[in-house]
Amino acid sequence: MKAETRRKGKIGIFDSGLGGLTILKEIMKVMPNRRYLYLGDNLHVPYGDKSRDEIYKLTLAGVEWLFREGAEIVILACNTASANALRKIQQEILPLRYPEKRVLGIIIPTIEEIEIFTKSGHIGVLATEATVASKIFEIEMKKKNPHIQILSRTGGNLASYIENNEEETKLIEEIRCVTSNLLSKNPLIDTLVLGCTHYALIEERIKSSVPIGMNVIGQGNIVAQKLANYLERHKEIEKKLSEQSSVHFFTTSADIHTQKMMVKFYGMHIQLKIIETLV
Ligand code: DGL
Repeated sequence: MKAETRRKGKIGIFDSGLGGLTILKEIMKVMPNRRYLYLGDNLHVPYGDKSRDEIYKLTLAGVEWLFREGAEIVILACNTASANALRKIQQEILPLRYPEKRVLGIIIPTIEEIEIFTKSGHIGVLATEATVASKIFEIEMKKKNPHIQILSRTGGNLASYIENNEEETKLIEEIRCVTSNLLSKNPLIDTLVLGCTHYALIEERIKSSVPIGMNVIGQGNIVAQKLANYLERHKEIEKKLSEQSSVHFFTTSADIHTQKMMVKFYGMHIQLKIIETLV
């Protein structure tokens, strides 16, 4: 039997909706010859205003669905899920039910890289309410480098506005409001991390709303490089992954608008399949 016929494993990418596309696209640039499954739980978006328990249940259901479809490794391309569900899935679910599979988040990889961007040592993070409430960026940075100050604040309605294709003036007004609220709390901030994958979809607009010279950092490229590095080091997973190139898109929402938005943000035509609601 040829090696490739045995290597069927896929990489699953999970987000509450559209934001994870910003991570998928960068991962595909770094590793084009892989099979990808993208699942957006657009029916339940936003996750950012849900309880920890709800986020955990929805995320676990998404991960298990991707496993059933052949994913050997799932990336939670969602900070809210990474902050509120990842650890429990890694510690309580994988060892018992899926000892051979892996689930990775996107916050630790971001923390490992962001300090190189700041000169002042003060970094702002815009994220959802549930991510901000978890204080995960502050806690993890303290472990990594206690000299770097992180201040995270909520991006308000931005994720919902993006999902709902809200009119431009409202979007711009919300960007101004959340960025000035964050930056006014600490004028030493010179680096702004987009700690919600949805915000990377409007990165250019955010860049034009912040003072000139401010570094605005999305997570896509960081996560892509880190994943490639992880697979280099974890041959037990890598050797199960197919080296054929493909990507399939799934959503939990039957709304026609979801398809349009996926196409808009992915940047080319895609075939979007609707799946039964996860929970
Ligand atoms: N894209 C998600 C994140 O990175 C969350 C958006 C939402 O569902 O509230 O946190």
